[in-house]
Amino acid sequence: MKIYAVANQKGGVSKTTTVQCIGAGLAHYGYKVLLIDLDPQSNLTSICHAVSDAQDKNTVTMLEILAKENKINDGIQHLDLYDIIPSSMFLASIDSRITDQMARPYRLQNALKELKGEYDYILIDTPPALGTLTNNALVAADEVIIPAQADILSLQGVSQLYETIESAKEHANPNLKITGIVLTRFQGRANLTKELVTLFNGAASQLKTVVFNTRIREAIAVKEAQAALSDIFTADPKSNASADYNALIKEIFDVDVLQKVSAE
Ligand SMILES: Nc1ncnc2c1ncn2[C@@H]1O[C@H](COP(=O)(O)OP(=O)(O)OP(=O)(O)O)[C@@H](O)[C@H]1O
Ligand SMILES: [Mg+2]
Repeated sequence: MKIYAVANQKGGVSKTTTVQCIGAGLAHYGYKVLLIDLDPQSNLTSICHAVSDAQDKNTVTMLEILAKENKINDGIQHLDLYDIIPSSMFLASIDSRITDQMARPYRLQNALKELKGEYDYILIDTPPALGTLTNNALVAADEVIIPAQADILSLQGVSQLYETIESAKEHANPNLKITGIVLTRFQGRANLTKELVTLFNGAASQLKTVVFNTRIREAIAVKEAQAALSDIFTADPKSNASADYNALIKEIFDVDVLQKVSAE
């Protein structure tokens, strides 16, 4: 069982999309996958069409699990492709629900221990903020994938995130590894972008990680698949978005999802 957090405190850089696309790809390939929505915005919960507590107030979400009111197994929803634990908008008030400050960052790590061996991969979506929720993800994860847009503000964000990652390593999770930085919503023709790619490569080597060769292009198929409550490999396997996420999955996990999907 390998646990990946997808994190960047900057908003709108494709964290949720990346969790869903990688999760869908690995599930199509045949792996058992659990997605965890740790963002109060609950975007992953919505695009995966999971039941939310807004739809049914008895739904167990990450809030009750982190607050230790429910066991992690109570929150798991089985979807066609993968399993998911939904978020709740009330997750924003997590700090008031865990009064023991020292215990706060460890709640997800402890909850996941109960799932030992049940999944091949667990992917955690995080909010656009550095706080208790992102900390829980960084403490629980084996590795962290950082999606970033190729602009100067995202570059600054990556170094702030690095400090948080270092702190998680120092205090709680010494073996945490940065898998790499994936440039998303990429529009490679702009001249400025080329210079930025060079800057990102420099930043990555300082963080002792890499910028993935694969760049995820801006592509309408991503939004179309999400609007259709589908995943990119099912909705549009021939799209640029499928090709890009397939290449990213190959780079990280060394498996070819599209080959598998087209053989079916
Ligand atoms: N490669 C892409 N091509 C086109 N649109 C994309 C792409 N990736 C993401 N988007 C769109 O950009 C928006 C932001 O993406 P997403 O929600 O995945 O980012 P996020 O980092 O999770 O945002 P937040 O920080 O708010 O959680 C969404 O509307 C999504 O559909
Ligand atoms: Mg998101």
